[in-house]
Amino acid sequence: MPENLLAVGYQYEVINLGNQVSKRLLTPDESFARFSTHGRQLLPMRKIAINAVENGLHSAIGVAALINEYPELSPTFANPQFKSNGCYIQDKVTVFGEALRNRSTKENKGLIDKYVELSLLHVSYGMMDKVCLLTENCGIDKNGKVVLIDFGEVTFDRQEAIRLARTRRWTRSQAFFYPFSKPRNFALPIELKPYYAIRMLSQFGPKAIEQTWQQSLHS
Ligand SMILES: Nc1ncnc2c1ncn2[C@@H]1O[C@H](COP(=O)(O)OP(=O)(O)O)[C@@H](O)[C@H]1O
Ligand SMILES: [Mg+2]
Repeated sequence: MPENLLAVGYQYEVINLGNQVSKRLLTPDESFARFSTHGRQLLPMRKIAINAVENGLHSAIGVAALINEYPELSPTFANPQFKSNGCYIQDKVTVFGEALRNRSTKENKGLIDKYVELSLLHVSYGMMDKVCLLTENCGIDKNGKVVLIDFGEVTFDRQEAIRLARTRRWTRSQAFFYPFSKPRNFALPIELKPYYAIRMLSQFGPKAIEQTWQQSLHS
């Protein structure tokens, strides 16, 4: 196990470099081993692991291309510097779920507003995060901005984005449906869930996604 290991997800191993983190895309075997420790043996885990790694690679390539064309987006992904094979170095941030623990409910509602704004900004550039696991996949940077640190499962497809909004994919994210927070696996605190739901229902519906999609792209 590497020194300074910060976390391992289903797609990435995250190493603490101080002010930055280094993220290495797992191999399909490593991802499979992660899934298998979670006792979901009934599901076709090997296929899911291969998909997770492939999606991670495609998403990283897509986000790298997007930032290359629109450098103003780089801070919204914590300034990733891409290496080969989907690996990258990124600014270290305070993980969203952790940040919620140290703030008042009023301040936390403000963070949720910023999360929805961030998601809509990305949609305006033609990209949408599919999973909405805001508590673990977002963070607060040193300027207090909400940023997306895990862009391993994003779509650049307009129809898919509209469909995910229509079917309210966000309600099936662990951040929303899961009742408990663990030290590293965060669910939204119960008192914030109605607020989050109202924000998403009013600002992140299929109409909003359709209207906002690619609005910021320079022609
Ligand atoms: N830039 C970062 N700053 C601080 N912690 C991070 C950062 N990137 C990842 N982490 C931590 O590592 C975990 C896993 O990283 P993530 O990019 O979400 O990988 P995975 O795609 O495997 O879920 C995150 O949930 C978070 O706790
Ligand atoms: Mg993640």
